[in-house]
Amino acid sequence: MKIIIINGPNLNLLGTREPEVYGSKNFDEYFSSLQFQYRELELAYFQSNIEGEIIDKLQEVGFSYDGIILNAAAYTHTSVGIGDAVKAIETPVVEVHISNTFSREDYRHKSYIAPKAKGVITGFGLQGYELAIQSFLKGTK
Ligand code: DQA
Repeated sequence: MKIIIINGPNLNLLGTREPEVYGSKNFDEYFSSLQFQYRELELAYFQSNIEGEIIDKLQEVGFSYDGIILNAAAYTHTSVGIGDAVKAIETPVVEVHISNTFSREDYRHKSYIAPKAKGVITGFGLQGYELAIQSFLKGTK
């Protein structure tokens, strides 16, 4: 089973960026622990600060992977293009946010991805990525 985590802008700074909101763990370390924990899966990871690169990656994996876990970060709230890409591909997408976007500023309440996503996980910290993996495993284990 092939699953990819796609992280958007500024998530390369996890661990140092606003630790009171996003925690103090670096994503590469967290991803390595996920790969170990779910070693029966083919788990991939991609991060970009560039909207078009995220769209290119969705198109690249969106017809062959079994699941996409997408934290488009700030683009979630602004990008019609990423929303359209999620609609255009076949692989189901789970939208994840580390913080609870609904407890934050109003502009974070809007998502261009959610209407086309399989589901949304928000506010559970990095554990949200694992919950998303489990949502893809349901029925196969
Ligand atoms: C985020 C929430 C977004 O509103 C914000 O722009 C991010 C991170 C989260 O994971 O909590 O960069 O997607």
